[in-house]
Amino acid sequence: TLNEEESVFRPSFHFTPKNNWMNDPNGMFYLNGTYHLYFQYYPEDIVWGPMHWGHATSKDMIVWEEQPIALKPDEKGYIFSGSAVVDSKNTSGFSEDGKTTVIAMYTYHDPKREKQGEKDYQSQAIAYSLDEGFNWTKYRKNPVIPNPGIQDFRDPKVIRDTINDQWLMVLATRDRSYFYSSQNLKDWEKISEFGETTGAHNGVWECPDFFPMKVKGSDEIKWVLIQSLNPGGYNGGSGTQYFVGDFDGTIFTPEEYMQNLDEKHSFWLDFGKDNYAGVTWSNIPQKDGRSLFIGWMSNWLYAQEVPTEKWRSTMTIARELELKKMDEKYRILSKPVRELNKYRTVIFAENKLNTGKTYTYSSEEEDLMNNEFSLNLPLDEINKLEFILSNSQNDSLKFGLNRIDHQFYINRKKSGITDFNEKFTQKTSTAPRISKSDTLKVHFILDKTSIEIFYDDGATVMSEIFFPNEPYTRFTISSNANLTIEEFEINRIELD
Ligand code: FRU
Repeated sequence: TLNEEESVFRPSFHFTPKNNWMNDPNGMFYLNGTYHLYFQYYPEDIVWGPMHWGHATSKDMIVWEEQPIALKPDEKGYIFSGSAVVDSKNTSGFSEDGKTTVIAMYTYHDPKREKQGEKDYQSQAIAYSLDEGFNWTKYRKNPVIPNPGIQDFRDPKVIRDTINDQWLMVLATRDRSYFYSSQNLKDWEKISEFGETTGAHNGVWECPDFFPMKVKGSDEIKWVLIQSLNPGGYNGGSGTQYFVGDFDGTIFTPEEYMQNLDEKHSFWLDFGKDNYAGVTWSNIPQKDGRSLFIGWMSNWLYAQEVPTEKWRSTMTIARELELKKMDEKYRILSKPVRELNKYRTVIFAENKLNTGKTYTYSSEEEDLMNNEFSLNLPLDEINKLEFILSNSQNDSLKFGLNRIDHQFYINRKKSGITDFNEKFTQKTSTAPRISKSDTLKVHFILDKTSIEIFYDDGATVMSEIFFPNEPYTRFTISSNANLTIEEFEINRIELD
């Protein structure tokens, strides 16, 4: 029933819309203490439909308050994915009475042109807000970038490029990204293309993001292109790869080892099946300086059939991205934003546990479905390591490390309700272990229907959803050799 679903499946510290369908995060910006999150939204059904931008606000990216719909479809089409920036110098000229202007850039998807069999049904448009993101006025001269005759032409992500003193925008076409430059956010000039000959291409490129990052432990700056694609993800369906390189203000040049990557390369923000279309917040103050990311925690393979009835889809936990050189290659690491820490209560802590080949933590009174786990495991003699979350209904979610081939995996075949779509369990997800450390660091968070695993300080991340018949109450670690579990902590996460 709906009530059961509300309490069993509604995440407690991840964003979900109160009702109906959500997909990609859109237009995220920070201003005056508030994080804004917009999202692809269809307010009339729990499946995809004419797209709106829903809206939510937060002081810390953890506790969200849903706001009235921000943008609605009109005669020019549906409002597809896009971004927002704060135009603090009023370069666009939209400001009135000295008010701060926020500019959103989005894709118009014209279903009439599409039905007529035309290719040119997607174009880029802008809207502005003079009340910090609550009410928007669409620009009367939209579109600002008409369609050049390309079928997939969408998802503009604008940033203020302070290095080259320009507004910089990247959007996705079928098999590459296009870069544009502007001085006033209204007139855009195409400056370059990237991607035709590198990266995964077994699907359409969508929802890019492009921004500079400081390399951890140095003053070096590198540019990062995040590039979602669907299908063709690392474990099938929707997935998000990335490229690292240099940008001279016009052309993006990836590192040499990133110039001819094949479909199964190892540069993915998340190897799990459920983190798609994620991008970063704009206008984060320089003294904060973090790259803050959120993604849609689902996959187009089965997103419209998952067993919730009142709403569909959840965002990932907001994450901080880091760029780190590991074995001569730049890697993006991610971890939950530190703002999550203040909602933690320790329920179990052990500095060192020497156990046999299996160890079980079980908690029958309080289930484990809004908990955070962290532990370190010296690998020594360990070749196979498996973690199992389970309940008394025989549902189990299994994940772990196969050390012989350096692969992590998640197996949700018996995790609970899975029969809504055969693609949900067709394949066990795998991921390469990026770190070579002989101690494995495991950190994961559970929230009713999701697991987000950050191995090795976020060097390999796997996020997946599942729908247990009853909450999991047991956590088992099992291995081929005796275990030493260090710095083992279980926290409960509760929003006040
Ligand atoms: C990605 C996507 C975007 C598009 C939006 C439509 O999930 O297909 O490319 O703008 O969803 O809802």
